[in-house]
Amino acid sequence: MNFTTGDSVAFVGYRGMVGSVLMKRMEEEDDFSGITPVFYSTSQAGQPAPSFKGAESNDVLHDAYDIEDLARHRVILTTQGGDYTSRVHPQLRERGWDGIWIDAASTLRMNDDSVIVLDPVNRHVIDRALESGVKDFVGGNCTVSCLLMGLGGLFKNGLVQWASSMTYQAASGGGARHMREVLKQFRDVSAEVSADLDDPAAAILDIDRQVLAKQRSGQLDTEQFGVPLAGSLIPWIDSDLGQGQSREEWKAEVEAQKILGLSDDERILMDGLCVRIATMRSHSQALTLKLTEDIPLAEIERLIDEDNPWAKVVPNTREDSMRDLTPVAASGSLEIPVGRLRKMSMGPEYLSAFTVGDQLLWGAAEPVRRMLNIVTGKL
Ligand code: HSE
Repeated sequence: MNFTTGDSVAFVGYRGMVGSVLMKRMEEEDDFSGITPVFYSTSQAGQPAPSFKGAESNDVLHDAYDIEDLARHRVILTTQGGDYTSRVHPQLRERGWDGIWIDAASTLRMNDDSVIVLDPVNRHVIDRALESGVKDFVGGNCTVSCLLMGLGGLFKNGLVQWASSMTYQAASGGGARHMREVLKQFRDVSAEVSADLDDPAAAILDIDRQVLAKQRSGQLDTEQFGVPLAGSLIPWIDSDLGQGQSREEWKAEVEAQKILGLSDDERILMDGLCVRIATMRSHSQALTLKLTEDIPLAEIERLIDEDNPWAKVVPNTREDSMRDLTPVAASGSLEIPVGRLRKMSMGPEYLSAFTVGDQLLWGAAEPVRRMLNIVTGKL
């Protein structure tokens, strides 16, 4: 498709959490220049459209369910979520709309005629797809995208025989309401023991007993997560596939294979255990990699560091790991720190690694932002 300067792009879901991160990144990168953005809403059609740097507008919000109106655009970029995609995408395609659909939701990810976008890792797959007329481009699961951004250098060079990932996933993966809920839980649990905390003579086991009683009281707000997360964890993310694996765990292998453009014969086995923890917006992963050969650690570090401008090796020391390899350090940054790199006691082909990534940036908004720039010819 030849995108012409000034062609219009429909944005749906720009006000949500991922949408807001996307808009901020587009302003920072001057991405609105050369396109005519039109903003859509599922609930506020007719109200004034937003103005972003480079996209000042006198327009009103358009109705995100108006198929005819949507169909006039060359590109539609949605961060509205899976329910919206399920409802609107089939109607547009049935109507014969053949524009480019760019989506942050998982709905279309594993369709045969879609591509999962993560261009620093799979630009060749994206370019091939565009040439062959593929029209649906979807951002990957956040843990998969962050993992491949961090360790792409090893995967792309065929050095990984299998990988096992134990995740520590932030509240933001559930959504904005989940982030608020975990903070409210922290607040309510802390309030319970606030006076005792300030009293050095108060016994810690009494404090602990009160915290546990509050967590088990049924009084905490658990509408989103179902159980308390503050001061706890949840060893299950997404639906139950029925064979002992969660959907989040299943995604790792199938999505990584699709992103890397591997055939079934080239499949890299990936499995692990996905856990929700009470952090805000950065997902972490502890990895065990079985390498295809015994490569020196210095070479491994070089391949990781040089693969893309965002992967950054953190020296495997206590000080560096504590400073640079945490959700607090990674949040708000496009850098993907990769650390705790060492050969394990199982043998020289077994590599340990730990990586962290802001799941709203490389895990959600950044790949679709970049895909828009690929379509508009800027990247
Ligand atoms: N499924 C992920 C999570 C979020 O719940 O953390 C986005 O891919």
